[in-house]
Amino acid sequence: MSFYALAVYFATVFVLVAAQDVELPVQTCKRDASDYTSCLRLAIQEAWPNFIAGIPKLEVPPLDPYFLEYQHTVYETGDLRADVTVKNVNIYGLAKSNFLAVRPHHAADSFKLEVDLELPKMLIEGNFKANGAYGALQIGGEGFFNISLEDIKDTWSIEGPLANDKWTLEHFRLNPEIGKMQIWFSDMFNGNEQLNKVALNFVNEYWPSLYREMLPFLSNKLDEYLTEIGNRVFSKVSFSKTFP
Ligand SMILES: *[C@@H]1O[C@H](CO)[C@@H](O)[C@H](O)[C@H]1NC(C)=O
Repeated sequence: MSFYALAVYFATVFVLVAAQDVELPVQTCKRDASDYTSCLRLAIQEAWPNFIAGIPKLEVPPLDPYFLEYQHTVYETGDLRADVTVKNVNIYGLAKSNFLAVRPHHAADSFKLEVDLELPKMLIEGNFKANGAYGALQIGGEGFFNISLEDIKDTWSIEGPLANDKWTLEHFRLNPEIGKMQIWFSDMFNGNEQLNKVALNFVNEYWPSLYREMLPFLSNKLDEYLTEIGNRVFSKVSFSKTFP
C-alpha cells in the first residue's frame, strides 16, 4: 500500500468515524424494557424543544416558526386545478405539540414509528401567486394569504428499511384532523374584490369538504418533503444507538 493510499484510507476512516459521531439529542429507551413505548413518548416530548430550536449538525432548521422560502405546486384534485407558488411562508405553532402516544414496530430489516400528537393552534402566512380554475370558474392572482388552524390532531407514520445500522425513511405520512380553519387571501380573482369576498366566504364555510378533497394530494406532497428532511437526520445517526 503506497503512502498516498494509506493517507486516503486513514482520512476515509476518520471521516466515517466523525460521521458516526452525531447523536440525536433524545433520551434513548431500551427496546426490551416494559415501559418502552411510554419512555419513547416522554423522550420525544422532552427532546422536542431542541428540534424546535433547530439542530444545525443534523440539518434540522428551526421549526417554530418554520420558514419556507419557496414552493411551487400544481394541484389537481376534484374540481380544482391550480398552479400555486408560495413565497416567504412562516408556519407558527409546532412548539406547542403535545405528544400523546408512540407506537414502535421493530422488524428484522425495517422499522416503523407511529406518533400521535395534538396541537392547539397553527398559523401559516406568506405570499402566494396562483392561477387555474375551480370547475368553470377561472382563478388567478397574487398577494398575501394566511390560514389559522385550531385543535389539530395528527398521527405521524414514519417507516422504511434498515441496513448497515441506518434507517432509511421511505414514508413520513401525516394525517391531520383539524377542528377549525380560517382562511384569508388578498386576491384570487385578478383584482375582482367582490368575487374574492364570495370565494373567502365559500372556503371558510366549506373548508371541511375542501380539505378532505385536498388531503390525499397534500399528504403525498408532505410525505415527499418530510421524508427528505427525516433522511437528513437518520442518515447521520446510528439506528442501534438511537433505538437500543
Ligand atoms: C389574516 O390577514 C388579514 C389581513 O391582513 C387579517 O385581517 C387577519 O387577522 C389575519 N388572520 C390571522 C389569523 O392572522
